[in-house]
Amino acid sequence: MKWLHKDLLDVSQLSESEVMAIFETAGRFQELNERPVKKVPTLRGRSVVLFFAEPSTRTKTSFDVAAKRLSADAFSLAKSSSSLVKGETLKDTALTLQAMAPDAIVLRHWCSGAARFLADRLDCSIINAGDGRHAHPTQALLDSFTLHQEWGSLRGKTILILGDVAHSRVARSNVILLNKLGAKVRLCAPRTLLPPAVKSWPVKVYSDLTEAAKKVDAVMCLRLQLERQQDGLLPDLREYSRTYGLGAHHIEKANPDVKILHPGPLNRGVEISSELADCTDSLVLDQVSSGVVVRMALLFLYMTRKGDAQE
Ligand code: NCD
Repeated sequence: MKWLHKDLLDVSQLSESEVMAIFETAGRFQELNERPVKKVPTLRGRSVVLFFAEPSTRTKTSFDVAAKRLSADAFSLAKSSSSLVKGETLKDTALTLQAMAPDAIVLRHWCSGAARFLADRLDCSIINAGDGRHAHPTQALLDSFTLHQEWGSLRGKTILILGDVAHSRVARSNVILLNKLGAKVRLCAPRTLLPPAVKSWPVKVYSDLTEAAKKVDAVMCLRLQLERQQDGLLPDLREYSRTYGLGAHHIEKANPDVKILHPGPLNRGVEISSELADCTDSLVLDQVSSGVVVRMALLFLYMTRKGDAQE
């Protein structure tokens, strides 16, 4: 498939068949990750900048691993070691990076819209690795890929997204992608952690967790985004954990083999119990492995969109 997009800003840009092409490509890279030597020359001579202006463990490491397994040169830049801390604007930092001619910049930034801002101004591909509370397309793609691997298809499945929806880019991108792939989406959160726009989203909203979890096929827990919350939204953290922290008793009426997901980093005992985070139906670590192959697929598709590379 010839890849037509220059940038990945959110999953709303992708058609269902493009998502399937990403999954097929990621599936082929899975075999590579099982070999003793996990490296192919596919992106040799190409370079990608990993520009993370917000903390990250999984996303940054998996992009780095993905680039290296495809033999691309990956260069990392963090906010603390960049000239952003000296007052340089995002645009000037990005133009400086572009002058070094990378094929792509993977950007994480605290501002919603930061990825689009750069995409409109730079010639290289911009891959959004999370912008404020707006979007996290690569996370949504790896979440759906993980479920797709489990079930073969998401069509007709019911998925509950639980927790701090208001401040979560993971929730926003997942609502769009899960609907696109034919799943039914439920949300459960206290009213203060739901965005006003939720009324127009294609979801069913619940305030009671046991009710929300009835007959679901998967529960996706969200971390409380304390770094994005205003004071006063959560008067009592212990009360929140008691009511909205996922425990085994909440999923007694869920479908058998209900899958448990969490994008990480997870706060055990706050949004999820350790018992569920570590249970046999937990896909938390599968999500991490999917992250590597989905990001390999994305780097491959976006960095070779002008042709001339072999998988
Ligand atoms: C998510 C993020 O950064 O938005 N984490 C991730 O990419 N694995 C979720 C979170 O930080 O809560």
